[in-house]
Parts: sequence; C-alpha cells; structure tokens
Amino acid sequence: MLSSFARLCALFVLGAQLALGFNILLTNDDSWASANIRATYTALKAAGHTVILVAPAVQNSGQGGRFQIPDVNITAPGGEFGSIPVGAPPFGHDINDNHLWYFNGTPGASAVFGLDVVRPMILGENATIDLVVAGPNEGGNTGPWLFTLSGTMGATYTSVYRGVPAIAFSAANGTHRSFTTLTDSPTDPANLAAALTTNLVNALANVTAPGQRVLPLGVGIGVNFPLFGPRSNCTDPPFTLTRITGGALVPTLSVGKDGFPVENEIVTPGVNPNLSGVPILPGETIISSECQTSVSVFAVDYDAPAAVSQDIQIALLPLFGHSSL
Ligand SMILES: *[C@@H]1O[C@H](CO)[C@@H](O)[C@H](O)[C@H]1NC(C)=O
Ligand SMILES: *[C@@H]1O[C@H](CO)[C@@H](O)[C@H](O)[C@H]1NC(C)=O
Ligand SMILES: *[C@@H]1O[C@H](CO)[C@@H](O)[C@H](O)[C@H]1NC(C)=O
Ligand SMILES: *[C@@H]1O[C@H](CO)[C@@H](O)[C@H](O)[C@H]1NC(C)=O
Ligand SMILES: *[C@@H]1O[C@H](CO)[C@@H](O)[C@H](O)[C@H]1NC(C)=O
Ligand SMILES: *[C@@H]1O[C@H](CO)[C@@H](O)[C@H](O)[C@H]1NC(C)=O
Repeated sequence: MLSSFARLCALFVLGAQLALGFNILLTNDDSWASANIRATYTALKAAGHTVILVAPAVQNSGQGGRFQIPDVNITAPGGEFGSIPVGAPPFGHDINDNHLWYFNGTPGASAVFGLDVVRPMILGENATIDLVVAGPNEGGNTGPWLFTLSGTMGATYTSVYRGVPAIAFSAANGTHRSFTTLTDSPTDPANLAAALTTNLVNALANVTAPGQRVLPLGVGIGVNFPLFGPRSNCTDPPFTLTRITGGALVPTLSVGKDGFPVENEIVTPGVNPNLSGVPILPGETIISSECQTSVSVFAVDYDAPAAVSQDIQIALLPLFGHSSL
C-alpha cells in the first residue's frame, strides 16, 4: 500500500492516464432486475468502467451475510418482476448482454459467484476485480444493526473477507421498482443514486494507480444517500465523512393491544459505544437523515480495541493457568 503522497506522485507521472477504468463487480440484494442496480450499471459503464452485474434472481433483502446457493432450477413464480422464466437454470445472463447475470442465491453467494465463476468466464481467467459495488440498496442501511442485517451489506463484507475492496451504497428511498420503470429524468431517484455512486467510484479511480488496491485489506466503505423522490427536495446532497455509530438505531419490542409484538427503533448506548472510528466524525444515521450523503469507512476486523479488551483478558487469566495480575 503506497502512501497517498506516493500514489499522487505515481499518478502525476502517468499524466493522461489519470482517470482509470476499474473492473467492477456490481451486486445488490433487491435482485438483478431492480431499477437502482440497472441505472448504476449504465452510469458506471458510461464513465468508462468495465462492469459485470451478478445479483440475486429474486428479492433477498434482510439476508445479511447468509451464504445460500441454489440446487434446483428457478421455481415459481420465476425471477423478480417476471425477469426469469420458471424452470430456467440457477444462474444465467441476459440474452442481449453477457455482462448482466442473475444468480439464484443470497447476496453474499452472488458476490462470490461473480468473483469466482463469472469473472474468469467474462473478463478472462487472470482478470482481477478492482472493486465490488453493492447496491444502491432500496432503503437506508445505517448503523451496526443494519450493517449485519442487510443483504447488500452482506455482499459487501463477504467481498471484503475475500480480499476484494467493496463499497455498499444504500438509498433512503425504499421503493422496490423494476428496471422497466426507469425514466430518463436525472431526478428519477434511481438515476440520482446511480450518478452519486459513479461520482464516488470515479473519485477513487482518480487516486488509484494501475495495479494498486482501491482500499486496504479488510476495509470497505458504506455510503448512505438521503431520501430522493417527490416527497423530498433533496437532489444534490454533499458527501460527508461519517462513522457507523452515533445516533444509530436498534429495535425494541412490546406487545400491542391485539396481542401481537410491536417493533420500535431507539437509540441506545449499546449500539453507539464509539469504540472505533474517528471520534469527531458525526454518525451516518444522523447525516443521511438530512440532505447529505454519509461515507463511513469500516473494517471487518471485529476484535475490540486493546484499550477496552485488556481488563477483560487480564480478569480471565486464571482460566488459562496464569495467576491474575
Ligand atoms: C434443470 O433444468 C434442466 C434443463 O431443463 C434439466 O435438464 C434439469 O434436469 C433440471 N434440474 C433440476 C435439478 O431440476
Ligand atoms: C494466466 O496466468 C497464468 C499464470 O501466470 C498463465 O500461465 C496463463 O497463461 C494466463 N492466462 C491467460 C489467458 O493469460
Ligand atoms: C476525476 O478526474 C477527472 C480528470 O482530472 C476530473 O475531470 C473529474 O472531475 C474527477 N472526478 C472526481 C469524482 O473526482
Ligand atoms: C421514492 O421513489 C419512488 C420512485 O422511484 C417514488 O414514487 C416515491 O414517491 C419516492 N418516495 C418518496 C418518499 O419520495
Ligand atoms: C420543498 O420545498 C418547497 C418550497 O421551498 C417547500 O414548500 C416544501 O415544504 C419542501 N418539501 C420538503 C419535503 O422539504
Ligand atoms: C458517541 O458519540 C455520539 C456523538 O456522535 C454521542 O452522542 C454519544 O454520547 C457517544 N456515546 C458514548 C457512549 O460516548
């Protein structure tokens, strides 16, 4: 990993090659037929990137990092929004575009299928994926609770586990839409999310020299777009650096008058301990609820920082045959 300064020097020497086209694997959890992912496929390609889209055949929201692969052909009622006939193979590509794939598994498994099977088939056995782009998700994914729960986040952290830089994009507008409803309007919520996704990817392409990793090992980025659509005036949200904790929400349950459980979401200290991250940065939950795009850098190294784990480890020493200190 070169320092930022060394990277900038390398780019200076390369001169005209400043804008580098990435090999991108695009995935999500809302299915290969969703409006957001198709608008983003078009926008990333138009910006000069090579994109292979490999995403679930059907809606897979809320699967987190679950890893499930198909052992039967496509079952009724077929692919999302009628995109795949019943009985079709468990994976395949659009008849007019061999870069546009469905995979009938969870988001994490779709990303791995893209990396291991579709990549060599379409880009060549030695081609590398520079970046996995997941989303834009239909609905926000802010805070640790949604980090683990969301399939879009699951595809992202699964890619990071595999050593491939990955970024999750999530849009507060949660409308589940087919790509066939996309319009040409730049303020179509799917086109706004696609344009901002492409901006962020291009900003990274601008500072990544050929052959360099886009992000360090074990590190990914989670981006949350604010609400776009008729009930929002927000069309040009600035990017803001954030951290995952800070105002994050978790569910609580009570029993309602009808005898069924009722869910509410609250801010608790347990989900906002601020153990890691840059302390002065605001929480992504708060920032993306305004007209701003939050950008949080995360790591999949789940060990607690030494400062908070040391006392616990010392207290447990007798268990390992040492006297306590
Ligand atoms: C899947 O479909 C193919 C082609 O129609 C068929 O040959 C195969 O037996 C099917 N496999 C399963 C497990 O249903
Ligand atoms: C891929 O890399 C291997 C090992 O360097 C090499 O033997 C092989 O010919 C390469 N394949 C292609 C298609 O370039
Ligand atoms: C990337 O670099 C190009 C060429 O200098 C520039 O036009 C563009 O604005 C940059 N894009 C981003 C998102 O930084
Ligand atoms: C979300 O976007 C859809 C179109 O994709 C739009 O119909 C809906 O009104 C938007 N939601 C809000 C709250 O603006
Ligand atoms: C959008 O802007 C208009 C005019 O400035 C204002 O009347 C309206 O309340 C705003 N709507 C939202 C959802 O902020
Ligand atoms: C974490 O930081 C937020 C500000 O972003 C603050 O409101 C909260 O109290 C902090 N939590 C703890 C446990 O210090």
